[in-house]
Amino acid sequence: MRIAMIGTGYVGLVSGTCFAEFGINVTGIDKDENKINTLLNGEIPIFEPGLDVLVERQTAAGRLKFTTDLAEGIKGAQAIFIAVGTPSRREDGHADLSYVYQAAREIAPLLEDYTVIVTKSTVPVGTAREVERIIREVNPNADFDVASNPEFLREGAAIEDFMRPDRVVIGTDSERAQEVMRRIYRPLYINETPIVMVAPETSELIKYASNAFLATKITFINEIANLCEQTGANVQQVAKAMGLDGRIGGKFLHAGPGYGGSCFPKDTLALAQIGQKHGTPQTIVEQVIEANSNRQADMAQRVINAFGGDVKGKTIGILGIAFKPNTDDVRDAPSLVVVPLLQEAGANIKAYDPEAREQAEKHLKNVDWKTNAYDVAEGADALVILTEWNEFRALGLNDLKEKMNQPLLLDFRNIYTEAEIKARGFNYISIGRPEIKLEDCSAQLKKAG
Ligand code: UGA
Repeated sequence: MRIAMIGTGYVGLVSGTCFAEFGINVTGIDKDENKINTLLNGEIPIFEPGLDVLVERQTAAGRLKFTTDLAEGIKGAQAIFIAVGTPSRREDGHADLSYVYQAAREIAPLLEDYTVIVTKSTVPVGTAREVERIIREVNPNADFDVASNPEFLREGAAIEDFMRPDRVVIGTDSERAQEVMRRIYRPLYINETPIVMVAPETSELIKYASNAFLATKITFINEIANLCEQTGANVQQVAKAMGLDGRIGGKFLHAGPGYGGSCFPKDTLALAQIGQKHGTPQTIVEQVIEANSNRQADMAQRVINAFGGDVKGKTIGILGIAFKPNTDDVRDAPSLVVVPLLQEAGANIKAYDPEAREQAEKHLKNVDWKTNAYDVAEGADALVILTEWNEFRALGLNDLKEKMNQPLLLDFRNIYTEAEIKARGFNYISIGRPEIKLEDCSAQLKKAG
């Protein structure tokens, strides 16, 4: 079997490579010559754990190829996946579909035998039908069907998510297309992964509804965390006990600095737009968007408040810039809001992220970049954990404390326990849990003898 993947960005590269792992011949096509040259040279343009090994294995096996030539890339493909970007339009937050439609227009005249055109990018309801209309308009004789097949993988865990998904969603009215899609997903099919066959509109909405619901869950627990801070409750315990209710589930209930990344911010905005367009406002999602944006800014304010409202001349060390661990992606990361706000308030910023510096440097200026957490701590008046990279979970707190001007830790990912922090004598501010002040620590230490 042969398929083509148009777009070698995050989704295109990961899913193309994983399809090759399924034993399918895959050609990744991209207009960006640099990206294709990088891939042809055996390098990976993004950071995703395990992806380099799979790309190397599949290119060596001859199952995974890359090209900038669309005609060559789609020749003989039984299915052509469109996995190009759908960024938010700056003016209105609506998903920009120009790359998707452009791809459809360019594929149309090149189609030969029966082909399934698959929209893999996250696209608004009605896009698959529009792709079909465009192809038919450009090439009325083409023998093809269109299917929507949204992707649910998470950055940093993309390969595992692709290989062991909770479900595969396929949206098409055509039985012939369903058959081709079943063959493509055969290895998952025989593993009894639920394959949900629906109409294209339903499939497109499943993707937005899923992402918006997860973003809502996070925003909900973030607001509960605020309430915990005012009432003395502990948000981690609240979330854990809530999650034990099978109807709620424990995942995506970690309170933090607000969601970021290339998907939730863009997809919630797009869903709100779709709702407005159809006269059915998605008011909960609209509220989630606003609450999340306020939350990211509020994180900077919390740091400023920890200094009694004035951070002028203070040195703040930031640990973690990526929007989540195991990625170098900084799109819509809380750090991109927090760092500039602290700088505006007069703070000097030192920072370290295991992978994201190169991406971050495109957005953040005047940051003193370091190559580890201990150099960030040197002379710092506070350390702020913004991303829960594993290497931040077991920091030598005594060493950090010695290097810092004063022992102040703002843990916006709740990766330390109160007990650990108390034992080390830090001023500690976390999310939705009691604040720890040094006086409490010395009392605690005295009590402990
Ligand atoms: C998300 C979805 O989880 C995927 O299912 C989907 O395929 C993907 O978007 C997409 O549409 O392409 P991703 O953005 O890679 O995946 O990352 P997540 O793990 O979902 O995290 C998103 C944001 O939420 C991060 O900023 C993360 O720190 C935050 N988050 C997540 C929390 O603050 N609390 C949580 O409990 C979980």
